[in-house]
Amino acid sequence: MAKIFLSILSLLMLSTASASATTPDGGIVPRPRHAELRDGVFTILTTTQITHYSDLRPSACYLAEYLPLQVRQYNADSRGDIVLRIDKNLEKEGYILDISPEGITIDGGSAGGVHNGIVTLLQLLPAKIYSGRQHLPIKIACRRIEDAPRYAYRGFMLDVARTWMEADEVKLFIERLSHHKINKLHLHLADDEAWRIEILTHPELAQKGGFRGPEEVVAARYGAFDRRYGGYYTQDQMREIIKFAAARNIEIIPEIDLPGHSHTLARVRPEILCRYTPDTNASLGYDTRDLLCVSREENYALLEDVIAELAALFPSEYLHIGGDEVITSQWQRCPDCQALMRRKGMSKPTELQHYFTARVSAIAARYGKRVGVWNEASEGSTLSKDALVYGWKDVATCRKAAAKGFETVVMPGAWFYFDMRQSADEAGHDWAAIFDVKKPLSFSLQAQGFTAEEMQNVAGFEGAFFSEVYLSHRDYDYNYIYHLTYPRICALSEVAWAGGGSWEEFYSRLRDSHYGRMEAMGIEFRLFPPKVSYSDGQLTASSSDGGTIYYTIDGENQGEHHIYTSPIKTTTPARYAFHTRRGPAFSPEAGVKERFSQIRPKFTLTSSMTESERYKFSGVESYSRVGRTTRAGKQGDWILYTFDEAVKCRRMLIRTGNVQTPRYLFEAGYLEVSHDGKNFTRVCDLDHGCGLIENPTQPIKAVRVVCTQSGNGARFVTVQSPKVWPILK
Ligand code: ACM
Ligand code: ZN
Repeated sequence: MAKIFLSILSLLMLSTASASATTPDGGIVPRPRHAELRDGVFTILTTTQITHYSDLRPSACYLAEYLPLQVRQYNADSRGDIVLRIDKNLEKEGYILDISPEGITIDGGSAGGVHNGIVTLLQLLPAKIYSGRQHLPIKIACRRIEDAPRYAYRGFMLDVARTWMEADEVKLFIERLSHHKINKLHLHLADDEAWRIEILTHPELAQKGGFRGPEEVVAARYGAFDRRYGGYYTQDQMREIIKFAAARNIEIIPEIDLPGHSHTLARVRPEILCRYTPDTNASLGYDTRDLLCVSREENYALLEDVIAELAALFPSEYLHIGGDEVITSQWQRCPDCQALMRRKGMSKPTELQHYFTARVSAIAARYGKRVGVWNEASEGSTLSKDALVYGWKDVATCRKAAAKGFETVVMPGAWFYFDMRQSADEAGHDWAAIFDVKKPLSFSLQAQGFTAEEMQNVAGFEGAFFSEVYLSHRDYDYNYIYHLTYPRICALSEVAWAGGGSWEEFYSRLRDSHYGRMEAMGIEFRLFPPKVSYSDGQLTASSSDGGTIYYTIDGENQGEHHIYTSPIKTTTPARYAFHTRRGPAFSPEAGVKERFSQIRPKFTLTSSMTESERYKFSGVESYSRVGRTTRAGKQGDWILYTFDEAVKCRRMLIRTGNVQTPRYLFEAGYLEVSHDGKNFTRVCDLDHGCGLIENPTQPIKAVRVVCTQSGNGARFVTVQSPKVWPILK
């Protein structure tokens, strides 16, 4: 039965693939501006040659990586079969792709335009082209596509500070972005958790700041608590990445996040901090500060050294200097910053940020760079009008920056932060929103109230992946970053290139054509959860995505995956979990509602650590908010949950630390369970501050979390309510 189902499915997939191959736009993503089919086919043979105008050799070689053909420079006598040319009359990144029975020409307004034409050509070929398993000859339907991007800035931000990504991983990410006509990679190279780029005049920044761990100057955060963790890009490696990206029409924009988010810089060069003695009792001696002192002149000299090297290394006209989330309390405690405020007649500490931004922008300008800044840095009156503002916070801040006349990159977190989870029970953050691919696709400046003038200042769009939780997902059997970012990057590309469009039209291209390409690329993208319903004693599952639906039954066959073929008769529907797979892509689990419900048993919380005045334990007991202790945990510290009545459940999750950004936790420890409230048995070690009790054999009267490692690089521990899943019927 399963075999029959699968072969019907593959027949269906074949027929849709051939249908899209004969639509004018070929089901390509992003949607081209104009496409028309012509009569006839062109056949790519092993003898077909790629010829290129003189400065297009990198583009020709890029094409030849996918189509193993001979590459030659163009001359009038040997015209060639696939011809790459520049036509200055076209828009800079625009192209015309013409496929006739005699040959293929790609005319681009620039090398970038030619690259975009190549990306389109590849999408018109069988998807196997991406996995290197497609053999020649290939027949391709004749067409003419005239295309150009709606926006000049089509970016993606990668946070390599929180989670280290090797140069080759970054290159793979770039390769996949380039298949979506994304043209900027904003690399978040320095933050509280790491400094990731070699600075020759100050080698300690990367050599020390590139690593975290128990013996490092920067404490472990977000995982890898027991070892030295991290890395940095040498300037040679970065030059190689820049070159690799440039051959794929991607410009790298480096970011060093200043003056906040500078904890790593402060750990490596503590003298950059404000001049006062911090109270480090709560952090067990660790200085947790993260803000550059604005009044310290030597800080500008240090930054000038850094900027001079970055300016020489990165060809981009932009240097992103951060500017987000500055918590000014450190400046308020600094006698020198206070004196500076008085001298300059400033009334608010935020004016210190604007003073700092103006000075650092002036340094960047001396090295020929325009600055990129997060929206907060544009809120004063002193930012140079040639700055590029990245509106991350919300739509209103994007509009405000654009209304002030700044060129603005639109990337509000609730639409474009692809580190947000895609549904309630999936992995990822949720502080901005929980959303799937439909949401960024639906983004419209008009619908969001941008005026015509504001729209004129929109440079484009950027998706983002901040990597606080990536590190703790590195040992998964799939690559978390791709599951979080695709297909949402497809939607970003559609909005930034084509200006968006209807979900139905986009989804038909995505599912019928582009899913197959991403499968061949090996991207572990996210599918929609299957729809599951239960009636008349039957469980039914369906998926709009194609692929195969699998299910598991709790308590049976150690989680064996069955292929779903027809409705399942059962009286215990909540024990069934369904998911869809297509090649490396998969969906989250779905099931009937009861499967995901939780209970909130009453309990009392006590600890060897005192509770914070502001974040009391009573909020944890009432399941309404997190609690905090007044210091980091020491070895032997404990947190005890005592339930009013012993709890019968199938799972209980006890967590220290924040959910969104796993910090403020017991970095190492274990859980003890008691069934009588007196005798405790150790049941599991903590993993990233969490302990999971699965299928307890007796009701749980109390759980104790015990700390085995002193310190967590912070000044408190976050205490959470337990998550409890009832026994399923
Ligand atoms: C940001 O998300 N703080 C830029
Ligand atoms: Zn200061």
